[in-house]
Amino acid sequence: MKQATGVSIPDFNYLRQLVQDHSAVVLYADKTYLAELHLQPIAESTGFASITDLIAYLRTQPFSSLHIQVIEALVTNETSFFRDIYPFEALRRFVLPELVKTRAIERSLNIWCAACSNGQEPYSIAMLIREHFPMLASWSVRLIASDFSNKVLARARQGIYNQLEIQRGLPKSLRDRYFEKQECEWQIKDEIRQIVEFHQINLVQPWPSLPNIDVIFLRNALIYFDLATKKHLLKQVKQQLRPDGYLFLGSGETTINLDESFERVQLDKSIYYRLHNKI
Ligand SMILES: C[S@@+](CC[C@H](N)C(=O)[O-])C[C@H]1O[C@@H](n2cnc3c(N)ncnc32)[C@H](O)[C@@H]1O
Repeated sequence: MKQATGVSIPDFNYLRQLVQDHSAVVLYADKTYLAELHLQPIAESTGFASITDLIAYLRTQPFSSLHIQVIEALVTNETSFFRDIYPFEALRRFVLPELVKTRAIERSLNIWCAACSNGQEPYSIAMLIREHFPMLASWSVRLIASDFSNKVLARARQGIYNQLEIQRGLPKSLRDRYFEKQECEWQIKDEIRQIVEFHQINLVQPWPSLPNIDVIFLRNALIYFDLATKKHLLKQVKQQLRPDGYLFLGSGETTINLDESFERVQLDKSIYYRLHNKI
């Protein structure tokens, strides 16, 4: 039994289970064409005659780096600089000014991008801080960025973006100030790169020890998880967030009906979440 895309239903079900077991990401059946698109290069580069042969091999082998490669290829990494803009507006206009006041004595701030993909999101925050909050240069600021995928983390650490990526969401003025052109690509300058610390963290495995966080960006990741995983993660987020901290989710995500300890705050077009009990 084959689907139009060429990945059989049993093979797709195997891939779906593999991805979900490792990352909690749920692949929907209408995404079989993506499986084919993303697995063909892996099949070719590892010497399999077809995706079918690749999957047959995976099925018989203990979990290995090839399984990880396949999982990473099937999980969406879609991202861009200043994606959806409003969370960054909120950070600049309300959240960081407020935290600069409330943390004035301790002079320390912890921000966590918990599914950072290729790095555009944490680098957007780093540029925003550099541009608009010069006083934070003398504070202890940790900008932690993590993802489960070492593939995206390697790209994020490198900080090199192609022409298409650099044009998505990044104002030219910031591009010219914080990137260097290298032939067809753009390298982020060290002054921004050094602000971000990258770590491999799988959100559905035990989290490493992290500081209490003032601002969590958990954007466009929950949307791929099932209900129980979303609830479980929000419970953990609640414990990691300082009681008066801020949570940003993707535009299609919410805490509503998942965890009632969060309050949805809308300021102009920006939405973020805070704990009801801020003490
Ligand atoms: C669609 S991207 C979103 C990137 C960025 N936050 C944004 O909004 O532009 C989703 C990211 O979540 C990561 N991800 C998926 N499952 C994860 C898990 N269990 N733990 C950590 N990261 C995960 C993926 O690797 C991917 O980079």
